[in-house]
Amino acid sequence: MSEQEKAAFGLTSNQARAMTKASQAALTYRQSLPSLPARPSMALDEAVARFAQPLADLGMADDVVIQHLIDAADGGIHQMTAPSFFAYVCGGSHPVGVAADFLVSAWGQNAASAYETPAITGMERQVCNWVIELLGLPQESGVGLVTGASLANTAGIMAARNALLARQGWDVEAQGLFGAPEIPVLVGQDAHSAPLAALRYAGFGAARVRRVATDDQGRIDPQAFRQALEDCPAPPLVLLQAGQINTGAFDPFAEIIPMVHERAGWVHVDGAFGLWLAAVPELASRLAGVQQADSWAVDLHKWLNAPYDCGVVVVRERRWLVAAMSARGAYLPDVTAHWEPSDSTPELSRRARGVPSYAILRQLGRQGLREMIARHCRLAERAAKRLGQNDGFRVLNQVHSNQVVVACTGGDDMTMRVLETVQARAKVYPSHGEWAGCKVIRISISNYAMYDAEVDLLCEELEAALCACQG
Ligand SMILES: Cc1ncc(COP(=O)(O)O)c(C=O)c1O
Repeated sequence: MSEQEKAAFGLTSNQARAMTKASQAALTYRQSLPSLPARPSMALDEAVARFAQPLADLGMADDVVIQHLIDAADGGIHQMTAPSFFAYVCGGSHPVGVAADFLVSAWGQNAASAYETPAITGMERQVCNWVIELLGLPQESGVGLVTGASLANTAGIMAARNALLARQGWDVEAQGLFGAPEIPVLVGQDAHSAPLAALRYAGFGAARVRRVATDDQGRIDPQAFRQALEDCPAPPLVLLQAGQINTGAFDPFAEIIPMVHERAGWVHVDGAFGLWLAAVPELASRLAGVQQADSWAVDLHKWLNAPYDCGVVVVRERRWLVAAMSARGAYLPDVTAHWEPSDSTPELSRRARGVPSYAILRQLGRQGLREMIARHCRLAERAAKRLGQNDGFRVLNQVHSNQVVVACTGGDDMTMRVLETVQARAKVYPSHGEWAGCKVIRISISNYAMYDAEVDLLCEELEAALCACQG
């Protein structure tokens, strides 16, 4: 049988070799992480040049293509999955999630329709059920698995928009936003840029958003909030935050949410990473009251360590999420009676992106998840304590969760030089930011494989860089 004929039934030998090569290279990469520099050795220009080739007329054998990817990417991959990566707020693509993700690609399911992909629906529904149960959110909520917190915030805000306009007698799905009644929008001064972008995507515009004063940890000031609320001419949309990107702090949910509900407003919580504290009984009180909100966004690719990409939108009254998201067509199955993934997400065709999280949650179990979140919070305290004892550093936040922000007492230039030195030594990789009017070094602890030794190495590297920069 020729290779072409064989392909009609399954895989050619080249295709099989390509899959084997890719999985072997993936394994080798993950096993070699401890010996790799923390950041790519290849500069961006060089990496772009390596791939910038004209598309040949003739194709190549599958396994040759895969070997090309492996060779050309070598040196240009950032070790984001390693416990040396303290930048942004990232998970480490948990190995069991990566293994499940191989299957997602091989199965090639278009997970838009429950009817056609029953096994995926089974797993994804269970992920949704587990997430809302772990986070203490209402069981009857609408839940959608989207690409990340940016889209989860967008979906939650669009559901809020529909509900708030309906309360004012306006059907936004039919009539759109032109001529719609006003919805006041209140957002803390230190909110993340993602929900602000989501407001723009949902048609609110940036200029009409009222920013409310925050304290030195980035939490909304309840007094300032009360005042802002009194000025609202209609039921407002209020965006709160569980986990400020620099300080990891939480807005005072228990004080603010009842005030908003008294005025028939809607509270959406951006809990991209911080909402996970709700899964840890001894830490959950830090988010007291968060479950009273109307919608929430949380990432699975951050603290759950799911491989990119996956986030979750949760809406207390499911009908508002479905009204804002669903797209039905005559060629699609008529399944109004049961849970349909595309009813809760902006995508119709979609990757079965919940599957890796199903695998991770099964692998960790409740205890493993709690231990990981609690460990990361403890490690953040450990880093803050140690760096706080060094006269050359100032820790600018109280540790509320897994974030630490540090500035050098020598000023912004010193802070940036220390950060660049640490990054260039490539043993660990924290990132930059600004907080309290200073340039800062941001330390985010959310990789599943981070323990005391990794955090101690980070502190040693910062201390060594400080000494080197002080001369
Ligand atoms: C608080 C917060 N909200 C939203 C986002 C955006 O999330 P994503 O990048 O998953 O879309 C982030 C990302 O760091 C975040 O920290």
